[in-house]
Amino acid sequence: MYDGDIDKILIGADELAARIHELADQISADYVDREPLLVGVLKGAVMLMSDLARALSRPVTMEFMAVSSYGSAASSSGIVRILKDLDRDISGQHVLVVEDIVDSGLTLSWLLKNLAARQPASLEVMALLRKPDAVKVPVPVRYVGFDIPNEFVVGYGLDYAERYRDLPYVARLKPEVYTR
Ligand code: PRP
Repeated sequence: MYDGDIDKILIGADELAARIHELADQISADYVDREPLLVGVLKGAVMLMSDLARALSRPVTMEFMAVSSYGSAASSSGIVRILKDLDRDISGQHVLVVEDIVDSGLTLSWLLKNLAARQPASLEVMALLRKPDAVKVPVPVRYVGFDIPNEFVVGYGLDYAERYRDLPYVARLKPEVYTR
């Protein structure tokens, strides 16, 4: 699969699974008396949503939202728009936003403001990956899977031009893939 396109595997499938289970245990303990509503941010968070929901030892409900900040470019434009909104009211709910990656932090800071205005009972974030720039932005990410260096990564939900989301690991692509 994608033979020859992968430069290096940065986080293997086993390592991803182990960390997600660790965070799931922490989340299950934190939400022991509350039922979380997981809000997955499409499309990048699909793999994480699916694995996280099954790793939690508590019942959850799930909603999805799609926002766009990148288009097909590999850098952030800062423009966020809603492509698909939530299907229901989240007021009074314990919302846990599930994101694949926080890069500039622009998407998440915009999303948190938008969701907070809908008056959930609580609002927290789990992000599988966080890049260095995001640490500078005042975006409260309660649960972080991995802090990664500032390089473009694909796999486990993350795409380049809509491809590579189906890889079971997080990887760096060979530079020539971007110039095809
Ligand atoms: C990615 C990712 C985050 C956002 C992070 O989504 O899923 O939502 O970018 O970047 P930022 O911190 O610089 O704002 P993208 O817009 O690529 O959509 P996708 O999930 O459908 O691939």
